[in-house]
Amino acid sequence: MKAIVAEEPGTPDVLVLKDIPKPEARPGWVLIKIKAFGLNRAELFTRQGDSPGVTFPRVLGIEAVGIVQAAPDTPLTPGQTVAATMGGMGRQFNGSYAEYTLVPQNSVFALKTDLDWATLGAIPEMFQTVVGSLNIGLEVSSGQTLLIRGGTSSIGMTTARLAKDMGLTILSTTRNPNKVAKLKANGVDHVILDGGSVVKRVRDLYPNGVDRVLELIGTTTLLDSLKTAKSGGIVCMTGILGGEWIISDFTPMDDIPTGVKLTSYAGKASNITPESLQAFIDDVAARRQIVNLERTFRFEEVADAHRYMESNQASGKLVVVVDDN
Ligand SMILES: NC(=O)c1ccc[n+]([C@@H]2O[C@H](COP(=O)([O-])OP(=O)(O)OC[C@H]3O[C@@H](n4cnc5c(N)ncnc54)[C@H](OP(=O)(O)O)[C@@H]3O)[C@@H](O)[C@H]2O)c1
Repeated sequence: MKAIVAEEPGTPDVLVLKDIPKPEARPGWVLIKIKAFGLNRAELFTRQGDSPGVTFPRVLGIEAVGIVQAAPDTPLTPGQTVAATMGGMGRQFNGSYAEYTLVPQNSVFALKTDLDWATLGAIPEMFQTVVGSLNIGLEVSSGQTLLIRGGTSSIGMTTARLAKDMGLTILSTTRNPNKVAKLKANGVDHVILDGGSVVKRVRDLYPNGVDRVLELIGTTTLLDSLKTAKSGGIVCMTGILGGEWIISDFTPMDDIPTGVKLTSYAGKASNITPESLQAFIDDVAARRQIVNLERTFRFEEVADAHRYMESNQASGKLVVVVDDN
């Protein structure tokens, strides 16, 4: 089969189209003919050699949508439409940058939908991350204020819409004034231009602070984000767009304000139910929900897609379509 293989850590140039053996079906695992896959920052980090435990060469890709080819000793049957996410894909074993992938059954969701492959491909990991962050990380409820640090990311855009639907007031940050209109069109109540610190602007709007903060930039802004939360508020670290994994100078007694709770979300497929994913997909098909699909790429263009992701021009999901029949 054809696969995009990262032979070694490095720039997008290490992503090379190759012929490699098609994986063989085995009990409890699902062999999927891939139709499309969303791109994720996590894959950029893995490509750069920053994902602990990942060895090279590796076929990257932590999510996919496609058709079951074989699924011995599972309830799935050949021909079913499925989505797969996480569970070691593209890290511990070869992932979705390929014509076929073999993934454990517990990472796979059977779906019923006529959505086009590109739109469907944008959904699984994004939906899982957003729903997991809102429900498990942030325990949100209607009437709360939510600051999304890194609001123009695909995760940030979808979080804004789902949280708005749940009755929250949304504050979203961007460093780029040209993206303000897109954020507003996406339902954001207050757009905050992020020059490094947003505490003053948030406190001007909400003097006691906000109820919830979704931190997608990561360690480079976390200490500032903590100061925007009110006592009793929750800050959930889900993303690391800033590219720094460690805070070298962290003094918990000073840096975590009294009463503010700091947590994190590292997603897994079991954090969402098949029913919730199917319901979201049905909402997208019925145009009750939108997927921010920024741009699609052909299979041979995966390296270009990585360059585009790294350029930070996007405010939505990038999807690679492997086979759109
Ligand atoms: N925990 C989990 O389970 C999980 C799952 C999936 C994704 N994630 C994480 O969630 C985050 C968002 O992912 P995504 O795929 O939605 O991202 P994305 O769409 O690629 O995000 C792009 C945006 O990030 C902002 N950005 C990029 N570099 C930045 C920097 N150095 N400082 C500040 N802002 C920066 C830019 O916004 P502006 O130019 O508008 O400022 C850019 O438009 C990532 O860190 C990803 O790894 C976590």
